[in-house]
Amino acid sequence: MKKGFDAPFGILGLLVGTVFMFIGAFNAQSLFFWIAAFLMLFFSFTYFHTTWYGKYKIVKKAIRELQLKGDEQALDIGTGHGLVLLEIAKYLKAPGKVIGIDIWSSKDQFQNSQAAAEQNIAQAGASDVAAVQTGNMLELPFPDNSFDLVTSSLAIHNVKNKKEREQALAEANRVLKPGGQLLIVDLIFGPEYQKTLAATNQFENINVKSVGYDGWCGGPWMTTTKLTATKKAQ
Ligand SMILES: C[S@@+](CC[C@H](N)C(=O)[O-])C[C@H]1O[C@@H](n2cnc3c(N)ncnc32)[C@H](O)[C@@H]1O
Repeated sequence: MKKGFDAPFGILGLLVGTVFMFIGAFNAQSLFFWIAAFLMLFFSFTYFHTTWYGKYKIVKKAIRELQLKGDEQALDIGTGHGLVLLEIAKYLKAPGKVIGIDIWSSKDQFQNSQAAAEQNIAQAGASDVAAVQTGNMLELPFPDNSFDLVTSSLAIHNVKNKKEREQALAEANRVLKPGGQLLIVDLIFGPEYQKTLAATNQFENINVKSVGYDGWCGGPWMTTTKLTATKKAQ
């Protein structure tokens, strides 16, 4: 499977910082620089671990826990190389289908493209149940009540403004069928999403938890949260 580093400039910045700190430590022989250098190395390591291994473990477990029946219509928002999409596809059988949408930003995921995601789908032999298309999470190109499951992994935080994150959640809500499930794996914003969803009064069983070390994007202060919720049946 083709994959790409999340926020490649973030890991690059950390690695460059680490090198400078070690150069400083060797030159100055100062305890401060040595501590800073090893801390930077640790931050780089945890970032690398999460983006290359940890998030795969988190998503695999989260999708398994959804206990899919196999005939669901699912949407993965900000699918990138298709991590969540391909995991869902493993549980589906046509007419079950998962669609991934993305704007394919390379600053958010290295070597991000629709072609790369499509190649991953073909390689996984999932073309009968999975597809991707270009689409913005702020204006989803689907009618109301289209999906039994809406997911998003490490994508909504890329919308920097709170009002727009609320808009992304409103869109996810709009396309989700009553009784449908919502799964959002994202950086520290889990509690914010929980409040936004609760305020709509359209969701129940809204749970947020931190997923631990596998989701540390640099350290425990930038942890990943997992939110699950069910849209109330009407
Ligand atoms: C860090 S990547 C995560 C990709 C994938 N979900 C994963 O977990 O590997 C974030 C993704 O969100 C996408 N994205 C950012 N803003 C978006 C928007 N407004 N609408 C749709 N996708 C967006 C980026 O292009 C990128 O593919």
